[in-house]
Amino acid sequence: MEIIRRGAEAEIRVDRWMGRTVIVKSRVPKNYRHPELDRSLRSLRTKNEARLIREARQLGVPTPIIYDIDLQKAELIMEKIEGERVKDALSKAGDIDIAKICEEIGRLAAVLHRNGIAHGDLTTSNMIFRDHKIWLIDFSLGEKNAKIEELGVDFHLLKEAFLSAHSEIFDRFQIVIDSYREHFENADAIIKRMKEIESRGRYT
Ligand SMILES: Nc1ncnc2c1ncn2[C@@H]1O[C@H](COP(=O)(O)OP(=O)(O)OP(=O)(O)O)[C@@H](O)[C@H]1O
Ligand SMILES: [Mg+2]
Repeated sequence: MEIIRRGAEAEIRVDRWMGRTVIVKSRVPKNYRHPELDRSLRSLRTKNEARLIREARQLGVPTPIIYDIDLQKAELIMEKIEGERVKDALSKAGDIDIAKICEEIGRLAAVLHRNGIAHGDLTTSNMIFRDHKIWLIDFSLGEKNAKIEELGVDFHLLKEAFLSAHSEIFDRFQIVIDSYREHFENADAIIKRMKEIESRGRYT
């Protein structure tokens, strides 16, 4: 067992499970929260993440298979996606591949959004590139039955993350937007809301 990441909320380790190499994501207890409340929060978020990962997969969005869930320990056991973070792939890709990746990011966001799912943390660190496909992970802050506002925030965060992680190719974000529009009939309403959210940020 090897810990590969210790974040603020979760610990990620690689382990073996039923003969497979898997990722175990556990939500760590927080001492500043009341123990009962802490346990129920961790358990809720674990359940939420597992549900959204599964639902996204059913919609055709590549996500890891969930093998097991332990609500007591607030732990998910899931398929390990071998590959590299889209964040790293993008920074060394040539023009054609950059365009393809951006198109795919826009399409995947569209599939989630047109089904009312906000991802919650749509950054290129939460995307893995494998077999010419993009896999989405980390749905812990996601939301089902998201409204225009939540979808607008989701797209806004995607844009902010893209511009800060990939400032040298910021102009390619237009490819993401065009693809999002192409695959989601209500895209214009979300983009309009995103622009409102941006201007709120500037004046408050
Ligand atoms: N199923 C998976 N397959 C391969 N790698 C994974 C998988 N799940 C997580 N990882 C790796 O672990 C990292 C962190 O996982 P994840 O994004 O789910 O946790 P996190 O909640 O973002 O942690 P933090 O809150 O600190 O950002 C990912 O960026 C990825 O590199
Ligand atoms: Mg993450």
